[in-house]
Amino acid sequence: MPLERVRIEGFRCLTAVDLEFDPQRNYLFGRNGAGKTSVLEAIHLLGRGRSFRTRQTRRLIQHGSQGFSIYGEFGSATGRRRLGVALDSSGFQVHLDGEPARGMSALATVLPVHVIEPTMHRLIEGGPSERRRFLDWGVFHVEPSYLDNWRRYRRILGQRNAALKQGQDLSAWQEPLLKVANVVDHARKSYENDLNREFADFSESLLGSAIEIDYRSGWAEGATLEHALQASEKKDRSFGLTHVGPHRADLRVSLGARGVREEISRGQQKLVAAALILAQIRVFAKAHGEGGVLLVDDPAAELDQAALQALLSALDGLPAQLILTGLSETSLAPKKDAPVLYIEQGRVTAMV
Ligand SMILES: Nc1ncnc2c1ncn2[C@@H]1O[C@H](COP(=O)(O)OP(=O)(O)O)[C@@H](O)[C@H]1O
Ligand SMILES: [Mg+2]
Repeated sequence: MPLERVRIEGFRCLTAVDLEFDPQRNYLFGRNGAGKTSVLEAIHLLGRGRSFRTRQTRRLIQHGSQGFSIYGEFGSATGRRRLGVALDSSGFQVHLDGEPARGMSALATVLPVHVIEPTMHRLIEGGPSERRRFLDWGVFHVEPSYLDNWRRYRRILGQRNAALKQGQDLSAWQEPLLKVANVVDHARKSYENDLNREFADFSESLLGSAIEIDYRSGWAEGATLEHALQASEKKDRSFGLTHVGPHRADLRVSLGARGVREEISRGQQKLVAAALILAQIRVFAKAHGEGGVLLVDDPAAELDQAALQALLSALDGLPAQLILTGLSETSLAPKKDAPVLYIEQGRVTAMV
């Protein structure tokens, strides 16, 4: 469902901003420090419950303000939804259609949002947890029961770890752990399969070479988890920690036999990350009929001309609502008929 309108208050340099969006493509232009990234950050927070720039959500509150609020309206022929998040002294609150809602999954189902931004290479360069989060977001959206299974796995894992620390017998956790771990693993594998197909397309068009993604379950390839647990029991006991299982999974990205993390430049890592995100949007769109919202923060500042052109053409056919930022029309030429908004010192003016 397209994002039609967003209201942001007390968020970074945005005192009170009210924006309307086109269901297809939107541009937001302004100088450095004008507040472009902050607008995207607020929309990201509305859909994901967190910023892509900081883990400390309190930091997002405008200096001198008591809290922030972000409110979005969504509409399509099939219905309308309203979503709000706020942070103040009483904590973080979520409202869905005017009623208090619990949990991040309420946000994610109304506003599936992705972002292509300067630090996205962390998806490639960073640790496995970044890639697991990426993978899990995707699996959850094609397989809603996944979230419950994943939580269940985490709970049993916690109990097993507690038993390890106390030197207790582990057999009570064995069966339930294996059962749910295999469900999680299976769902991820099948998602990776879908993702791979789309990713091949985008990595070819963005990087011109065959990059491979390869899901690693979190235990030795070819072994069953049962055997892997057995093999690691001694180590697990001495650390009071389970060393194998879906919580150790990774999505390995490689160029031929080499790992992309070590071998390619930061610029190329950004393109690989972008290709993964675009692939995820396509898989999502196949399941839901639409791809959600894609925020693209200042691509002209981040990519060289050839890469920028490749990214922009990949965006052309993408089944998603787009919001792109840039310094001005000269750095990023807007498409004909797409609305352009200008932002200056945290204030937005609409223009056609
Ligand atoms: N918590 C805050 N309160 C007030 N202003 C902030 C806060 N955090 C960041 N800013 C300011 O917001 C401005 C806008 O930043 P940003 O959204 O990154 O702009 P742009 O992406 O257009 O370059 C910066 O000048 C920054 O100093
Ligand atoms: Mg910026």
